Amino acid sequence: MNRLRPGFDRRAFLRIATAGAGAGAAGMLTGCGLFDSRDPIDTVGQVDFAQPLRIPPLAEAARTDQVTVFDLTARAGRSAIAPGGEADTWGLNGAILGPTLRARRGESVQINVTNELDEATTLHWHGMHLPAAADGGPHQMIDPGETWSPTWKVDQPAATLWYHPHPHGETERHVYRGLGGMFILDDDHESGLGLPRDYGIDDIPVIVQDKTFDDRGRLVETSRRDNGMIGDTILVNGTAGPVLDVTAQRTRLRILNASTARSYSFGFSDDRGFAMIASDGGLLREPVELTRILLTPGERAEIIVEMSPGQTTTLRSHPQDLGLSDSRGRSTGAADNLDIMLLRAGESLVPSAAVPARLAAVDRIDEADAVETREFELRNNRINGESMDMNRIDEVVTVDTAEIWEVWNGHRQPHNFHVHDVQFQVLSIDGHDPAPELSGWKDTVYLPPGRRFRLIMRFTEYADPTTPYMYHCHLLWHEDEGMMGQFVVVEPGQEPGPIDADHDH
Ligand code: C2O
Ligand code: CU
Ligand code: CU
Repeated sequence: MNRLRPGFDRRAFLRIATAGAGAGAAGMLTGCGLFDSRDPIDTVGQVDFAQPLRIPPLAEAARTDQVTVFDLTARAGRSAIAPGGEADTWGLNGAILGPTLRARRGESVQINVTNELDEATTLHWHGMHLPAAADGGPHQMIDPGETWSPTWKVDQPAATLWYHPHPHGETERHVYRGLGGMFILDDDHESGLGLPRDYGIDDIPVIVQDKTFDDRGRLVETSRRDNGMIGDTILVNGTAGPVLDVTAQRTRLRILNASTARSYSFGFSDDRGFAMIASDGGLLREPVELTRILLTPGERAEIIVEMSPGQTTTLRSHPQDLGLSDSRGRSTGAADNLDIMLLRAGESLVPSAAVPARLAAVDRIDEADAVETREFELRNNRINGESMDMNRIDEVVTVDTAEIWEVWNGHRQPHNFHVHDVQFQVLSIDGHDPAPELSGWKDTVYLPPGRRFRLIMRFTEYADPTTPYMYHCHLLWHEDEGMMGQFVVVEPGQEPGPIDADHDH
């Protein structure tokens, strides 16, 4: 049974599973540990690319001189994704995922988030610099029937950010069911570079998620093991077997790993090169020519791929070196080969400008400016030995200072590290300069076991001694299990806490 390859033999697999144990069998098989010893999934050449890639609509905005207002409503719906029937999914303003929010540097935004689910949730603006009370972390719960309306002024470089729920202990489930979306930021510099930026035409959101479906097309919430759920069906923007009809010589893909646990090493089936132009927090200094880009949960990369008329190529995830043992790598999906999306170029393509040799000034934060160095060890679903406590402030940071955070994974499981409110720079990894992909602004970074990452970041503008921001592993099951901590940003000399709890349950 461990030779089954669910990516293309899923129905046979599920027939066996169902014969054995009835509904919920896939979960039971996981519980038996079969997936731990399974062969890698290989869906290369096996995916039926027959659905046009769904492009999430741009969210409608009501704009005045003062503020741009968006409305998002979380609700349950049904989505036909996999063969056999419909899945119960959750979405924002639709049945799955949500519209793409888009705002420009200098613009003030207000987002009215209404919860029409039958349980409380939150919405967090991942990668955004904003006041803690607007962050949408686990302290800003939205009860069923309520509307939460955070507001802030966008003031950071053009970037591909995203939004997703963050209720403590429930984040994996809420994201898996479909809540989330992209949040694109623009600025005048990026707009003037001549990059592809026509949304849905040559500038494409690519929200990648893995899920498991049963033979009636329903979402399977398999029981979680060490790293949470690893699905065998890869969706882009909620579409299984997606086809992108390419109409321009160069296409910009804004790739977001919105999976709950799976990492991807993205590349193309013909090993063509592409130009990486941006990481989590915005443009790199200059484009980086690559054939692979590793993205762990929560990370983004913008890439530009060039095609000739009539060509096709497949976006694929290749086996990846996460620094894990073979068996742990397999159980995390690191050995899988996955066909993700077919790119099909038309017979004539609109010409595109060349990718500029210089993209943006990424000013280094000077190490000498750091007023504090903190250490964080991720191990056993804890950080520095502590499990997340909603009522404990772990770190107190002074506003308008820079700090170095030394982070490492003291464990043989895969972990990454995400910090709210800031974009950081990787100073070094075990004393060495980071690879070019990690040379720009980041908010989430993969931590291979045993390697020491020195991150530098500046905490600006917003002080609030009673409302914490989060830092955590973005493998969402780890986060739910307590691999998360809280920091507050205070004015010089200000006492932190107590945590403002009027929104907690
Ligand atoms: Cu992507 Cu704390 O979140
Ligand atoms: Cu975040
Ligand atoms: Cu982790």
